Amino acid sequence: MKDQLKVKAAQGVLKYLKPYTELGVGTGSTVDIFIEILGKSGLTFSQIFTTSQRSAKKLESNGFQVLNLSEIKKPLPYYVDGADEIDTSLCMIKGGGGALTLEKIVAEISRVFICIVDESKYVKKLGKFPVPIEVIKEAIKPVCWTIENELGGHPVVRKNFVSDHGHKIIDIHNLSLGEPAAMEQRLNSIPGIITNGIFANRKADTLIVGTSSGLKIFD
Ligand code: 5RP
Repeated sequence: MKDQLKVKAAQGVLKYLKPYTELGVGTGSTVDIFIEILGKSGLTFSQIFTTSQRSAKKLESNGFQVLNLSEIKKPLPYYVDGADEIDTSLCMIKGGGGALTLEKIVAEISRVFICIVDESKYVKKLGKFPVPIEVIKEAIKPVCWTIENELGGHPVVRKNFVSDHGHKIIDIHNLSLGEPAAMEQRLNSIPGIITNGIFANRKADTLIVGTSSGLKIFD
């Protein structure tokens, strides 16, 4: 059922995209479905950039050539990605798939961020899903200490997972997210954290939700 709702959301994006322009493509199971739909759509883009090795492989196997992010020369007109949670003001928690660092970079350099989710991800208030952070190995203990003692969250190092960049991911449970933008900035200020998965300072511009009663679009 959830997959069918992801398909609906992914199909809903197509009418937003302008062919022959640059496109940013995120990471995750919803994006995997989007890539398959894109492959069958016949749409072509001048350049495609993505946020993980996983999506690069998927794009290539669906007939798209993927450029390295270092080749971005101007803002991307559109970036399509999923989220772990998204609230009514379109702030998100992302990084469940561990690709948060490149996701934040691509979001920042995109003019329009279109988020596609099934209805289970659309929430009144962020925080049920733990906030992922990508952390350099040497900083894991100090960062966990700061989170527990200064932020009141419960850090759990993700088991058997290393990011595309060779770093560990810590999932922070029970973090107070009353003010997501402030918490995003606070986490940004802790040495050793490369990226945190709160997307509040650069949130989505358009949200497409696949629901059992059809598509819901917010922008
Ligand atoms: C990956 C992400 C994904 O967008 C997020 O985890 C949602 O994934 P899925 O579509 O599989 O639920 O941020 O780092």
